[in-house]
Amino acid sequence: MHLIHPALVHFSVAFLVTGGLLEAAGILMRRQGWEQAGAVLLMAGTLFLAPTVVAGFLAQNSVAGFNGGGAEVNLHERFGLVLLGLFAALTLWKGWNRGRLPADHKPLYAVLVLAGVLLTMVTAWIGGHLVYGYGIGVTSG
Ligand code: HEM
Repeated sequence: MHLIHPALVHFSVAFLVTGGLLEAAGILMRRQGWEQAGAVLLMAGTLFLAPTVVAGFLAQNSVAGFNGGGAEVNLHERFGLVLLGLFAALTLWKGWNRGRLPADHKPLYAVLVLAGVLLTMVTAWIGGHLVYGYGIGVTSG
């Protein structure tokens, strides 16, 4: 059961990081093509995030043990939930404006997207450390 999470995270991470960087760069550098392409990828990443989080909880409840990495598991979980909240809120913000943010909203939106990209990378790094540092899910501790 814990193997569903590692299978899904690749899609969330790839779409959120690529899409977020592209959309934010498009907004900040006024490149409409980048902004539109990035927005589609970011939406795909946000859609993958919900099942990734659900699979994360399944993994947490089904691995043999945390091998002393319990605090890092909790941090990883909290960051994952903040990520889901942040990207869901950004999607709602855009949806509220029928998919087109007013020009004066865009710089703040871009900064929050970049913060989300950074948090995605930190969360993914911690996830990798759980497996390759503590052996969670791959050893019997
Ligand atoms: C918030 C709920 C989450 C929980 C409870 C959770 C829990 C876990 C657990 C228990 C592991 C190690 C065991 C295993 O999967 O085999 C893990 C690994 C991992 N998680 Fe999460 N996670 C969550 C969200 C996320 C999110 C949102 C991301 C991506 C941004 C992510 C990225 C990763 C990565 C990259 C790994 C390492 C996978 C591998 O290389 O095997 N997690 N997570």
